[in-house]
Amino acid sequence: MKPVEIAKGVYHVGVQDWNIRDFHGYSTERGSSYNAYLIVDDKIVLIDTVKKDFADQLLANISSVVDPKKIDFVISNHTEMDHSGGLARVMHYIGEDKPVFCSKMGHKNLSSHFTQKFNYRPVENGEEISTGKRQFVFLETRMLHWPDSMFTFDKSEGILFSSDAFGQHYAGYEIFDDVVGHAIMPHAKKYFANILLLYAPRILKLADQITEMGLDIRMICPDHGIIWRKEPSKIIDAYVTWSRQIPEKKAVVAYDTMWKSTRTMAEAVSDGIAETGVAVKPIHIRSSDRSEIMTELLDAKAVIIGSPTINNNIFPTVADLLTYVKGFKPKNRIGTAFGSYGWSGEAVKIIRQELEAMGVEIIDQGLRIQYVPDVDAVAQCVDFGRKIGEAVNG
Ligand code: FEO
Repeated sequence: MKPVEIAKGVYHVGVQDWNIRDFHGYSTERGSSYNAYLIVDDKIVLIDTVKKDFADQLLANISSVVDPKKIDFVISNHTEMDHSGGLARVMHYIGEDKPVFCSKMGHKNLSSHFTQKFNYRPVENGEEISTGKRQFVFLETRMLHWPDSMFTFDKSEGILFSSDAFGQHYAGYEIFDDVVGHAIMPHAKKYFANILLLYAPRILKLADQITEMGLDIRMICPDHGIIWRKEPSKIIDAYVTWSRQIPEKKAVVAYDTMWKSTRTMAEAVSDGIAETGVAVKPIHIRSSDRSEIMTELLDAKAVIIGSPTINNNIFPTVADLLTYVKGFKPKNRIGTAFGSYGWSGEAVKIIRQELEAMGVEIIDQGLRIQYVPDVDAVAQCVDFGRKIGEAVNG
């Protein structure tokens, strides 16, 4: 995709990764983009680079605006390699003595990624720099989502270069919020659930900080997906809502199954939950992606996990999901477990312990059915689901 002038003298020179479908374990059904921005002022500045494999495409994009050798300095908002992978190639081309502005942790982390000793210029939180007509301020956003993460804010135009924050894994020619419309929100939600949920308390503090500083944000330029130019407050407000973790009247019933007994249970449990007016969806873990399930869990009050017992343990895919969800430390959830078994039946207890370990309030010790659920067992599952629904309704 050719560069787009997104504001006077500000160019989107990033690249679209149309084909990526797995971003370190996150399913990216719409691909992704690695956004980089070129500021053409008295000084010429590149904000962030792209994945290593796309570095030549980035240089070609820059070349269609200015000779890359005229770049005066680079700003690295984030070290993760989808944004720094192309740095070595870019520096080699534009001159390795050119300054690279980054946070103090960025200096440390970039130095651990590259053998070359670039001309790093670590900046303080709140430090400013001028490119001529424009004045930029650096805002440290440590652990959003890496220790090195920072924002760069163009005070003159109200443009926030927000690194990963407010992004979405989304490839497309439509690069603005007013072009894509509300259809972008599920992608933004999935991105938040799978990249940022763990840091929700920091996001709330950052939102307060932005308000206190009175930053007049007129455009948000993330490093993935579309640019928020019409309604930047929409994504900021969504981040605040998601970070508060006030769940909806919704339950996720995620399960795996060997001989369809646990599936029968999952569907009967969901029937019971649905009878109470709670939104519910039975999700077969092996037919879904963990990042999709995590997105469903973002606003669900109840986390209900089902697994058959196999070799005195839980099913491996259930272990995968529990490990993944646990990493995000979700708050304000209730949960329980269910599953079929043959002779030992440890799965329900193991799941319950895992849910407890991640801070989920256990509302029931769980339901086990031996071998194949009969009519009475199915009725038991429906009743179990009704109790879950009543707990969600509070
Ligand atoms: Fe898009 Fe944290 O990298």
